[in-house]
Amino acid sequence: MSRFLEVAADAARTAGKFLLENRGRIPPDQITEKAKNDFVTRIDQQSEEIILKILHDAFPDHQIVAEEGSRRRSDSPYRWFVDPLDGTTNFIQNLPMFAVSIALLKESEVLCGVVYDPVHDELFQAERGQGAFCNGKPIRVSQENNFSRAVIATGFPHRRKIYLPDYLLTFNEIFLRCSGMRRCGSAALDLCYTAAGRYEGYWELGLSPWDVAAGSLLVSEAGGKVSDFWNRPDFLKSGFIVAGNPSTHARLIDFLKIRFQPENNLGD
Ligand code: IPD
Ligand code: CA
Ligand code: CA
Repeated sequence: MSRFLEVAADAARTAGKFLLENRGRIPPDQITEKAKNDFVTRIDQQSEEIILKILHDAFPDHQIVAEEGSRRRSDSPYRWFVDPLDGTTNFIQNLPMFAVSIALLKESEVLCGVVYDPVHDELFQAERGQGAFCNGKPIRVSQENNFSRAVIATGFPHRRKIYLPDYLLTFNEIFLRCSGMRRCGSAALDLCYTAAGRYEGYWELGLSPWDVAAGSLLVSEAGGKVSDFWNRPDFLKSGFIVAGNPSTHARLIDFLKIRFQPENNLGD
């Protein structure tokens, strides 16, 4: 395991333990609405502080971009993306689906990624070219190629409501053809569960790099495909992401590319 991954795993576990200790104990005055239906708690911020200290102590020259506003800029080609609590609404509601997500990019390539789910004590990790693992055991995407038996995860476009009509049409088309749909409320875990073969595929729009950078590497290192809705690689920029085993990914793209237009993907 590289030093990058070792430090990222340590940071994710330390922050995850902190989240678990504070689960179900958030006073309403420590919850802020950043935007409509987009919440942040004091726990998100403290988790971010924990992670930043560990990353910065280990790699003082690296750049860091974290969801709750922490930024460290430098000339280094290495840049960390940190989501200190992916699934804040679940966390506030005391639902068990939330995680810490940390990824390291060199230029625009994801080098390693870690997602830690403290409730289930599952540490998902991957390094480019080295495979994907859950608690140290190799994981692979699902081998199910029959779309009518596929279970598909998604997220609702709550930050990009302009896309809701097209989203609902696509949801309808996919729902009618697959075996089941899930919306668990943590994009990082949706991707890790796709990597582990628990879901055949996943799609969502309106996401940020800290939501998906780590999980996307898990999927590709587990033998899956990740792209934007038009099968292009720049999902980290656009926030339109589709992932899955190769056959499910191709099938999802067929549904998504006809409803959504690439030139619309900068709208709000
Ligand atoms: C959110 C979760 C959710 C997704 C949202 C994300 P947050 O992250 O990943 O599943 O649907 O769009 O923003 O805000 O809880 O870190
Ligand atoms: Ca997130
Ligand atoms: Ca978050």
